[in-house]
Amino acid sequence: MNQCQNITLKGFNIVAFSTSTSLTIGLFTGALVMYLIAVTGNLIITTVICKVSRLHSPMYWLLCNLSLVEALYISNILPKLLSIMLKEDKTISFQGCITQLFFFIMTGDAEVFLLTCMAYDRYVAICYPLHYSLVMRKQVCVGMVFCSLFVSFVNSLMFTLLTYTVRFCYTHRINHFFCEIRSLLAISSSNTASREVILFVEDFLLVSLTFLLILTSYGHIISTVLKVHSLKGRLKTFSSCSSHLTAVMLFYGPIIFLYIKPKSEDSEDQDKLLSLLYVAVVPTLNPFVYTLRNKEVIEAVRQVFRIKCSGSFRFRF
Ligand SMILES: *[C@@H]1O[C@H](CO)[C@@H](O)[C@H](O)[C@H]1NC(C)=O
Repeated sequence: MNQCQNITLKGFNIVAFSTSTSLTIGLFTGALVMYLIAVTGNLIITTVICKVSRLHSPMYWLLCNLSLVEALYISNILPKLLSIMLKEDKTISFQGCITQLFFFIMTGDAEVFLLTCMAYDRYVAICYPLHYSLVMRKQVCVGMVFCSLFVSFVNSLMFTLLTYTVRFCYTHRINHFFCEIRSLLAISSSNTASREVILFVEDFLLVSLTFLLILTSYGHIISTVLKVHSLKGRLKTFSSCSSHLTAVMLFYGPIIFLYIKPKSEDSEDQDKLLSLLYVAVVPTLNPFVYTLRNKEVIEAVRQVFRIKCSGSFRFRF
């Protein structure tokens, strides 16, 4: 009894990575660089979209929301991980752990829903171009974003409460690099079988249903694109989708891989590295995915930063 309460007061120990010192330094540096790039990149996208009125359209509003969610997603995990890798003290308080869990599920879910909304937006834009402005009205767009965030919030709250009521009497070592819900349930001393079933079913439904919706949208998009006669016309029609499609593959790829990969005893470290890839690399790459392949955004980034610089510098060649 005492033991259990003690652990709630003392917090948890995050095991992070059980690698050699030199590898830890490498991981630390990589994670730090990725964190800085991810936050800067996503905030630049958000700023540019807000400032440049040419980009005030549903597709970019959704992207703006997605960038903010990604900045939050990575900020919830990496700073704490970096400090844990740096310091001897690897504890996280019980409240800190629960907060991390809450934001991780909330932002992860929000990302899934926003990617689905973006697929729907592309579907309407390409398959029903004449009705686009009618279907994707501002209110519809706000409604979709609101629903995405609200459902993510409720879902995350539910899992946080389910975890909050679990007792931890035996150990407080979390064998992961953040307060991941499965790792937490794995070390609890309560019977968590029913919680794990709920978690499994819910994850499965969330991922497979949204993925199915995205696939359906792209099925329609591709059949519409194939009806365009010239190759140039096809590429042009499809070009507004290519960034989104890349982002979808980056996001769902690792989830599906982790899911179908056979489980083995000593694959824990491998799984952790894969999760790190998933947590850190996706938000880092997305700003590039959306700018490098999109002339409109590149132009807008130039425009915003030229406005900022032209006051003090003027170069003539
Ligand atoms: C999020 O999306 C909504 C609806 O499209 C939009 O009105 C809003 O400006 C966006 N917010 C941000 C911060 O991107």
